[in-house]
Amino acid sequence: MTLFEAQEKLRTYGQEHVLKYYEELNEEEKQALLDQIAATDMSILEACKHREELAKKGEITPIATMQLPEIQAHSEEYRSIGIQAIREGKVGAVLLAGGMGTRLGSEDPKGMYNVGISRDLYIFQCLVNNMMDVVKEAGSWFHLFVMTSDKNHAATVSFLKEHDYFGYNGAYVHFFMQEMAAATDYEGKIYLEEKGKLSTSPNGNGGWFVSMKNAGLLDLLKTEGIEWLNVFAVDNVLQRIADPVFLGATIAKDCVVGAKVVRKNAPDEKVGVMCLEDGRPSIVEYYELTEELMNAKDENGDPAYYFGVILNYLFRVPELIEILENHLPLHIVEKKIPYLNADGELVKPEAPNGYKFESLVLDMIHQMKSCLPFEVVREREFAPIKNKTGIDSVESARALLVQNGVTL
Ligand code: UTP
Repeated sequence: MTLFEAQEKLRTYGQEHVLKYYEELNEEEKQALLDQIAATDMSILEACKHREELAKKGEITPIATMQLPEIQAHSEEYRSIGIQAIREGKVGAVLLAGGMGTRLGSEDPKGMYNVGISRDLYIFQCLVNNMMDVVKEAGSWFHLFVMTSDKNHAATVSFLKEHDYFGYNGAYVHFFMQEMAAATDYEGKIYLEEKGKLSTSPNGNGGWFVSMKNAGLLDLLKTEGIEWLNVFAVDNVLQRIADPVFLGATIAKDCVVGAKVVRKNAPDEKVGVMCLEDGRPSIVEYYELTEELMNAKDENGDPAYYFGVILNYLFRVPELIEILENHLPLHIVEKKIPYLNADGELVKPEAPNGYKFESLVLDMIHQMKSCLPFEVVREREFAPIKNKTGIDSVESARALLVQNGVTL
């Protein structure tokens, strides 16, 4: 893109200020900035001016969850279906590790966080240990796809390689990078993080399959015959990955998606809950849950919206390919965004100062025709690390790891 073309584009979106320091840059920096301007989707930025319109939902009704007694009654049958699928190479796992982990506040990728006390025990290591249980049970490896972003790719790859993938088979580990989106102030003006660089952040975890495609990984799915992908977050150190019973239940119920859920511990707990929206599977975020929905009962008299998602989903690959071209709703999130102030100095704010633009994996569920919400025991499978202390923290996760027999 030439300077003239960049100016045109910026004028269209009211972002001319990003060229403020252009004349101070050397030739290479100038070109890098013009390339970044060319690659940035600025059409989405206006949306922050009418955020409330983005969250419109259809008609919400309850969805049936497969609950613990039913799972226990059929666990051997489901387990053998799941194990067979893993042995046949039909299952892969996708680790979503492109996030910035701003709440945890570490400079390193979240997976590099050491939760050990008397020994080193990194988040990535906990996840690999959990995967190894399944590898041992099935007697075969399954492919692991690790999504990173521009901000943490190099550190993630070298850390995992340095630690020899914590015992996982390197031939089965594949990295790919997600796309970035510009970050803005509250007026939708793009921040600069350097004189020649727009402030960007990872564009949410919803673009993972598009990013896999862009990285050329769909060919590998095809040649390896991978039919199911288990997508999971980096920060839940207790989660079961490629869980054979979950997989077998989703296959047995002929669903194209499975979603692990936990029973909420209070009606107003801050988790998204499974539901039907206009007759299709969907998730209502906690801030969208009205008083009426919170207190609603299903036909058995139980709370109708009581199973929260834990970001562990199984997707069938053919259906993922079908929805590749579909757009996902945009989420505009308030975050702390490092920026250059009026004097050109870098500021790392203590409080949120603007917006990031994200799409979310949970919105993919609504594009699918069927979904099995699958209950898991919270204390055994849900220990997310979002903060240093308090709820969903290093502290709470450590306590849960110990409770589950892990030495810290
Ligand atoms: P979170 O919503 O907790 O975001 O991500 P985060 O960026 O890790 O943390 P905060 O909000 O800044 O504190 C849930 C999962 O989705 C991944 C994260 O790495 C985590 O596994 N994620 C999130 C991505 O892979 N890409 C993104 O753009 C955002």
